[in-house]
Amino acid sequence: MTPDGAPALVTGASSGIGEAIARRLAGRSAPLVVTGRDAGRLDAVATATGAHAVAADLTTAAGRAAVVATCGEHGVGLVVHAAGIGAAGPFSGIDEAGVDAVLAADLAAPVQLTRALWPSVRSAHGHVVFVASIAALGVAGEAAYSAAKAGLRTFADALRLEEPGIGVTTVLPGAVDTPFLARRGYDRAFPRPVPADRVAAATLRAVERGRAEVFVPRWLRVASVVQGAAPGVFRWASPS
Ligand SMILES: NC(=O)c1ccc[n+]([C@@H]2O[C@H](COP(=O)([O-])OP(=O)(O)OC[C@H]3O[C@@H](n4cnc5c(N)ncnc54)[C@H](OP(=O)(O)O)[C@@H]3O)[C@@H](O)[C@H]2O)c1
Repeated sequence: MTPDGAPALVTGASSGIGEAIARRLAGRSAPLVVTGRDAGRLDAVATATGAHAVAADLTTAAGRAAVVATCGEHGVGLVVHAAGIGAAGPFSGIDEAGVDAVLAADLAAPVQLTRALWPSVRSAHGHVVFVASIAALGVAGEAAYSAAKAGLRTFADALRLEEPGIGVTTVLPGAVDTPFLARRGYDRAFPRPVPADRVAAATLRAVERGRAEVFVPRWLRVASVVQGAAPGVFRWASPS
């Protein structure tokens, strides 16, 4: 689909990749609804993009209901799930609350929000984008996060099979230069973080071209191909 003229929702729009996508949709999608938790940062993005802002915690049913209610006023054709949190460090160091938080924000929230918006997206023959991560392949030091992102990628795969009339795109970035890295104590020198706007541009291109998956940078696709064709080689080459 083309986002031009389609009502759109972008989650995680108060920062980073979601903000960059919202800025690219400004003037194209109408109306545009943006959501995030930080009302101040979200309002600044809404003002710059002419969007409706809904400050909400998407891990709560009430937060999701507020977003769905605003979308319901206009219908929604394009949904971009960019909200998410990271969890870096050895699995032996993460506590129960940490696992709950990452699974709630990165897996349960986008699945539940998709479920609630599905009737609207179906009637619009719309498009849903999930911002997953290269961690969906399984990355050492990010086990719980990897589980959430792999779950999200597989959820997208299932939806794509079930509803061929709806576009479903999974975005798998490597490191991206956003506050995400500092917030969760990531120390990523390789691959070098790419600008958030590069992910935004690749995402909207993938929507326009109906692509199932997009890796950013593109060469990261090699890792997925090797994992499928030669899992032993993938394990041997993966950093521990
Ligand atoms: N940066 C990277 O290196 C990288 C790499 C691969 C994948 N990703 C994925 O890309 C997506 C965007 O990340 P980013 O780099 O743009 O991070 P970011 O700058 O930290 O932005 C994350 C966004 O998600 C929102 N969010 C987090 N938890 C939420 C919750 N419970 N309810 C509602 N909104 C919530 C944040 O809202 P507030 O700030 O208002 O709380 C913010 O708008 C995430 O799914 C992340 O896993 C990032």
